[in-house]
Amino acid sequence: MTVIRAYAAAKLNLYLHVLGRREDGYHLLDSLVAFASAHDLVEVESTPYFSLQLHGPNSLPLLLEDTDSNLVTKAVKRLAEALDRKPHVTVKLTKNLPLASGIGGGSADAAAALRALCALWDEPIDHPAVTDLAARLGADVPVCVGSRTAYFGGTGTQLSPAPELPEDCWVVLVNPGVSMPTPAVFEARSGPFSPSARLTTSFSDVRGLAGLLKDGRHNDLSPAAERLSPVITQVLAALDSTTGCLLSRMSGSGATCFGLYVDFDHAVAAAELLSGVRPGWWVQPAALLNDLSGLEVIEGATLL
Ligand code: C5P
Repeated sequence: MTVIRAYAAAKLNLYLHVLGRREDGYHLLDSLVAFASAHDLVEVESTPYFSLQLHGPNSLPLLLEDTDSNLVTKAVKRLAEALDRKPHVTVKLTKNLPLASGIGGGSADAAAALRALCALWDEPIDHPAVTDLAARLGADVPVCVGSRTAYFGGTGTQLSPAPELPEDCWVVLVNPGVSMPTPAVFEARSGPFSPSARLTTSFSDVRGLAGLLKDGRHNDLSPAAERLSPVITQVLAALDSTTGCLLSRMSGSGATCFGLYVDFDHAVAAAELLSGVRPGWWVQPAALLNDLSGLEVIEGATLL
């Protein structure tokens, strides 16, 4: 048997500008998206039936849901249908990342399932049917399929390459344990729209990157999310005041925030300090990497 393992890496919006709103209610966005080494795992294997196995420290809410409503199940079934195949696979999802937390979560898992299944079924990941169904699964799914540093535009589905991140780029991810409903955060956003803020220059080092991100770039959903869940303001303040980060910011529609650090040692020290003072928060040091789309093919293994 062969098991294919894909990493569903945490997605971070290094900045996120809301440029406007379409008539159907969706917002037009401009975001620099990077991927962190903190991840869920998606493993797939051919079996005579479909099954979804849920494991990991954050799997409980998914175990309480109907399997058919899981975005991974939808990704598998829609991909099989688009390719005129039967969805006869077992998928093991190891859920490490907090749910509904602004770092991809379900979108990253669905995208990892698409990458793993295309490899298992010997189909190219840039097959038009895959691209099309990724965008229909959710606005964040296409960028998670790529799992590479990228700009996204439109409603989030129009991707363009971004300059590579500096080699040594460390963050600490912090989630205070509140799940944020994305539609409510978009709805609560107020004030003028922002301009696009894309960069054409490369990022010299992590200090240069932090400087560019602070220079007129922000997360436009942060004020609304902080109004809905004031604990997010506490997370940002804790990152700023206790850990000496170069930059603190919320990702996506929250509630996960990240601090950016000069190196690995500072990130690990910051994570230890924060976990000590806030034992109830999810705190995770991670590297930002330019390409987390890799797969592992494990021959002679089984998920059963
Ligand atoms: O596409 P996805 O299911 O991830 O989006 C969840 C919700 O977030 C949408 O129903 C919409 O309310 C909001 N959203 C938006 N504009 C976007 C992306 C999402 O208003 N570009």
